[in-house]
Amino acid sequence: MSAAREHFSSKIGFILAAAGSAVGIGNLVGFPVNAAKNGGGAFLLVYALFVFLVCLPVMIAEMALGRKTEKEPVGAYKSLSGGSKLWSVAGLFGVLTPFMIAVFYMVLTVWIFAYIALTVTGNLDYLASPAGFGEIINSPYIFLAMAGVAAIVNFILVAGVKDGIEKAAKTLMPTLFVMLVLMVIFVLTLDNAMAGLKFFIIPDFSKITPTVINGALSQAFFSLSLGMGILITYGSYINRQTNIANSAKLVAITDTAVAFTAGLMILPAVFSFDPAIDTSTLSDSSVSLIFTFLPKIFLALQASIGYIGASVVATFFFVLVFFAAITSLVSILEVPVSYLVTEKKHSRKKALFILLITAGLLTIFATVSFGMVSFFTEFTSYAGGTRSFFDVVYDIFYDTILPLNGFLLCIFVSYRWKKAKLSEELSIGSESYKGSWVEKYINFSLSTFIPAIILVVFINTVAQKFFAVSLFGL
Ligand code: PHE
Repeated sequence: MSAAREHFSSKIGFILAAAGSAVGIGNLVGFPVNAAKNGGGAFLLVYALFVFLVCLPVMIAEMALGRKTEKEPVGAYKSLSGGSKLWSVAGLFGVLTPFMIAVFYMVLTVWIFAYIALTVTGNLDYLASPAGFGEIINSPYIFLAMAGVAAIVNFILVAGVKDGIEKAAKTLMPTLFVMLVLMVIFVLTLDNAMAGLKFFIIPDFSKITPTVINGALSQAFFSLSLGMGILITYGSYINRQTNIANSAKLVAITDTAVAFTAGLMILPAVFSFDPAIDTSTLSDSSVSLIFTFLPKIFLALQASIGYIGASVVATFFFVLVFFAAITSLVSILEVPVSYLVTEKKHSRKKALFILLITAGLLTIFATVSFGMVSFFTEFTSYAGGTRSFFDVVYDIFYDTILPLNGFLLCIFVSYRWKKAKLSEELSIGSESYKGSWVEKYINFSLSTFIPAIILVVFINTVAQKFFAVSLFGL
């Protein structure tokens, strides 16, 4: 007999942990820029429709699958498919994907950590200088920052679900909300803040093209941490009193609210820096926005609040992003940890040690692929360009595999596990679920149009990423 599975101590603990996973760099930086570039309020509307009509049922199904089996993806697919070879591949993807995304996300989190260290020590001007970013990520000190982040994440994960993950979420998430609101209030007092706000909120439906719609769905999918095995794993720690559908709804609302609020922070700041900015020139990647553009914005604040004031604001911002990143990183690493503990019967400590060595090594490879080591910098080439090791991890796992995992999950839940079983699981902790319109919607959508839409997004992303063609011709 294996030891009883650990559970979250309360519904709110679970919701905060899942929201902690969902709220990340994607919300704080990716969403605001995407929205501003792609039609403001109109993008928000499309995004919100996707979150609630397409992503939420997938989220609910992931959580239900986890709670039913009390397993991570490999174990979950295995136990409900009677050990089918085909489905065990889906389970394997469900653990490999988070493992590789963790590598990529770790690199970003390490950079953020380094930025905090630099702003605290009065080096904001260096961060904002043209050479700053490139030098920082290629300096040997970056490995010190890596050790720091690894220690923090290990500290949280080794303590387990209740005393580690849940406790961290219960402290970090409320702090993050308060910091975010304080930042918004501060930013709205800046000159030209209203111009940014207008740009963010006023809908421009002419910008809504098929490509934008495709982007909105990918953004929503990734922002809610779907297709990464995380919600299956966290689901396996939910107790049987919890109403899954309601909890998932709260997670989705929180995630969307944070993304929206982040827009109220980022865009007024961007416009106060340059009132005449052409938003189409804002880079698509949140990476360049956070690491090269935002430091300049913070430095510009010194005209009104002095260098120390500007450094304080910058530190505050990077700490905010860091908290969001840590709770996401913890959630994604919990998937392979849980796999090693449940399937491979290792202790948590041993599992974390194995990850430290394997994921740690890959993280080092990704870190040195920005110029430090040319083998990793010029790792391969496709779609007409050279790609570093970091790019490959990003392109394959972050961008492409997520919808595929989501598609497989919909098919598995609807046709292998079966809708009636899903309903049964979801009515535990929710007496009114059976017969409700929510049940009808979930069962219908998960077995029909949701997998169809996700499949189109997957095919289109592969075409664009690896062959530089768009299905929509746009
Ligand atoms: N939802 C996260 C975000 O918006 C995505 C993520 C979750 C990434 C977990 C990595 C790990 O940034």
